Order: sequence, then structure tokens, then C-alpha cells
Amino acid sequence: MHKVLILDFGSQYTQLIARKIRELGVYSEILPFSTPLAKVRSFGPSALVLSGGPQSVYGKGAPHPPKGIFDLGVPVLGICYGVQLMAYFLGGEVIPSKMREYGFASLRVLDRSGLLAKVKDKEQVWMSHGDRLEKVPPGFVITGSTANTQAATIENRGRKFYGVQFHPEVIHTREGRKILANFLFNLAGLEAGWNISSFVERKVAEIREAVGTNKVICGLSGGVDSLVTSLIIHKAIRNQLVCIFIDNGLLRKGQYEALMEAFRKKFALKVIGIDASDLFLDKLRGIVLPERKRKTIGRVFIHLFEREATRIGGAQFLAQGTIYPDVIESNPVKGPSSVIKSHHNVGGLPKGLRFKLIEPLRELFKDEVRALALELGVDKGFIHQHPFPGPGLAVRVIGEVNRESLDILRAADDVVVEEVRRAGIYKKLWQAFAVLLPVRSVGVMGDQRTYQRVIALRLVQSTDGMTANWYPAGPGLLSKISTRIVNEVQGVNRVVYDITTKPPGTIEWE
Ligand code: XMP
Repeated sequence: MHKVLILDFGSQYTQLIARKIRELGVYSEILPFSTPLAKVRSFGPSALVLSGGPQSVYGKGAPHPPKGIFDLGVPVLGICYGVQLMAYFLGGEVIPSKMREYGFASLRVLDRSGLLAKVKDKEQVWMSHGDRLEKVPPGFVITGSTANTQAATIENRGRKFYGVQFHPEVIHTREGRKILANFLFNLAGLEAGWNISSFVERKVAEIREAVGTNKVICGLSGGVDSLVTSLIIHKAIRNQLVCIFIDNGLLRKGQYEALMEAFRKKFALKVIGIDASDLFLDKLRGIVLPERKRKTIGRVFIHLFEREATRIGGAQFLAQGTIYPDVIESNPVKGPSSVIKSHHNVGGLPKGLRFKLIEPLRELFKDEVRALALELGVDKGFIHQHPFPGPGLAVRVIGEVNRESLDILRAADDVVVEEVRRAGIYKKLWQAFAVLLPVRSVGVMGDQRTYQRVIALRLVQSTDGMTANWYPAGPGLLSKISTRIVNEVQGVNRVVYDITTKPPGTIEWE
């Protein structure tokens, strides 16, 4: 099977490259830029991709690829920082620049016989770079330009080296998929052979091998990730798996009861249910900072898992539904990208954890997990429920979390989801939820002055949670949600709409 190796130079988008390539049916993996050449060789890549990255090739401590990477006789695609590295090491010239070019540009196709085959002229591409490629290396030609970037795509057909200054892996580059496909199939000569069924087989075998006769504990969150994790592990080791579903008091309305029933009856999993809402709220008292909240919640979860592991007779393994966006945004294990949030199932784990971790979905994106869920027999209604963060409503109550705030938020959240479903747009959206702000504003209700809390609405569209657009909701829906929240939710007298994309915002507020 042909496979692509992506060297990660720290771009937030590196996993998107991997995913897009897998979507095109070619197996791909990511390794840090610092991987020794011998390891790159032993991976046996059929093609290499050099990712983007936040640094300048001239910068102090700038990440450079292993020496000899351009002498492996393997086709290479450099993306953004990756193409600048190619220029830097292959005899071109990169101009340092303090000004970043960030956002949309229009690509002029100058040569449609290689990387840009069948790519429409003047289509939108997504730029995010500081330095600029001033002189292309010998043997390369420029095949595409934008107004600000003359060398937007460069090609050296003889050596099968290609470079793009923009990001073909992000959705904002309209012809990005075509450009990647041109590289993989037409220019590098690869064949498609990867699919999700082969992934399950591989994971089941790995888990059996790792676990042996031991027991595994898996925390269910109510989301599709932890359920799919459990189902894969269950396939591998059956009743050696014990699932734990904790009511942390931070769940949505009615979620705990509905889910317990589904886990046991529909999926035949062995599930222990624990009501720990008092404990979580107690530990969260007085905490305002998002990172402290996330880490505290993570610690309480682990404490409860450890307690249960002892009770069931010593499980050595803890399984988690960590998926790639959780990893890349909290724990830069695979490269030098910066920490954005500690997702509780990744960044909040204490030192000296007595479990060995099993995270079969660690390399996958949400839509890949959803495809897997379907393959494993999970019904569509469950699969297409919106993602819900591990720390639950705690990261949607801005500031200190307490029972009163949670009750307000739960009621408002219920209205948002109900109205979004009624409007028939639930499936169109990645997420739709309410956020409770720690401010009060003055209002008037029935001739009386009110001084109450504010709810922010967050309706976003996304394909993977890595980037997102706010949803241009119609005035009918917005006014219905606003009216219902102010009328039905005690303690709220104002509703505002969040119109921030990701980046620069994130989806959750904390
Ligand atoms: P952000 O807020 O970082 O969120 O743009 C991206 C996606 O991840 C979800 N999210 C989490 N999921 N544990 C999770 O399992 C977490 O700690 C967590 N924090 C955010 C978020 O809802 C969005 O879909």
C-alpha cells in the first residue's frame, strides 16, 4: 500500500493535510520535523509532504528537516513554510518579512500541465505566511501566482519536487483537493488503497496485543468519540472492557438518563454510572480561569476512574476518545505548534498516572470518527449529534461555575437546540449552543427594571472543528431564540449573537 509521510513543522493545519490525503484514499502519517533520516527511510514513504509552520527559515532555532531529505528519490510537496524550506535548501531565495499575508487570495494559473491540472483560474486560495519566496531554486518553474505572491506554486518535474505557498489542505482553498490529488496521483504516481475498515482491523489487533488478559476502563462522555472508542475496544476484548459514565453535573438537560439507557440496551456495553455532580461542583468552586477549570475537571475524572479501577479488581488501562483536534490544540507532541487549550482528556492528565492509555482515535478527525461509527452500527441520530466538550457546560459558563449558573445555561441551551432542530438546520451546523456570560445588563420587563445575565448564542459551521464559520442565521430564528430565552429562562434578560470565525476565535469560549 502506498503511504505518505508528512513532516510537521508546527502548522495548526498539519493534521488536515493528513486527513485530506486519507480522504483521497492514500494512507498518511505525521512525524515531527526532527525525525532522523533513518526513521524516515524505514517508514518507506511513497511521497513526502513538508507542512507549514509559524517560523521563519532564518529564525533562531527554526525547525529544519533531517539532512538528506531531498536525496531520498521520493516526490516532495512543500506547503507554505515547507516550500520556503525547499527554496532555502535547494538554492532559491527566501525574503524575510515582518508583514504577514493572511487571508484569501486569487490564484492565477500559469501552467495547467502539472500541479494545477484542471484547476480553475482565479479561484480563491488561503494564505497565511510571513516570509516570501523571492527566487525559485534552479530547475523549478513558477506555475501559479497571486497578486502578492509571484511564486505561489513552483514545480520541478524532473526531481518531482513541488511547492505551494498557500494552504491546499484548508477548506478555504477551493481547488485544494484537486491540487493534492494532482500531486499524489498524477505527479507522484501513487494509488489509493486506504479505507476505514482496514483501520478498525488494525486497531482491534493492536488492542488485543497490548491488553492481553488485563482489564480496560473507558470513560464515556456521551459523545460519539468515546462511544466509538468503546465499541472498537469491545470488539477486541469483549467483557474485559468496563465503561464508566459519570454525571459531573455539567451535562445537558436529560443527557445522563437518556445515555445510560442507550449504552446498556443498544450497545450492550458493561457500564457503571456514577453521580458525582457534588464533587465536581465542590472542586470547581472559586475557579475562574479556563485552563484551571479544564485541568481540575480532568483531575476529578481521573480520581474517579482510579477509584473504580480498584473497585473492579485492578484495570491497568484507561481508554479515552481523544481525537486529533484535541491533541493538536492541547499537547504539541507531534511538532512545535503552540498550546491553545488543554482538552481535559489530554492536557489535564496528572503526572504519575497509574494507567496506561489507549486512544485508538488519536489520529482521526471528527468526520472520520463519524464514518467509523456508521461502520460499527451506531445510528445516524447519535452520530450526527453535535460535539460536546469533555468539560461540558463548565466551559460555557464564563467565570465561576455554580449550580445556579448551570441551571440557567441548561435551560437556555435546551431552547437553542430545540429551535435549531425546529428550523431544520441542526444537521447543517457543527454546533449550536448557549454561553452564559459573567455580566449583567439592564432591561425592562412589564414596566419593571431588570438587571440580569446575558446569554451569547454560538451557531457555527465546520467540517472538522479546526476552522469554523459563524452561521448566518436568519432574523426569524434569531428572534425566536432570543424571545424564548428571555421569556422562559429565569435570570436572563439579554441575548447576543457571536459572529466570530475560528481562527481567530475558538468555538468554545473557554
Ligand atoms: P475549540 O473551542 O477549541 O473546539 O475551537 C474545537 C472542538 O472541540 C470541542 N472541544 C472539546 N472536546 N474535550 C473534548 O472532547 C475538550 O476539552 C474540548 N474542548 C473543546 C469543541 O466543542 C469543538 O467542537
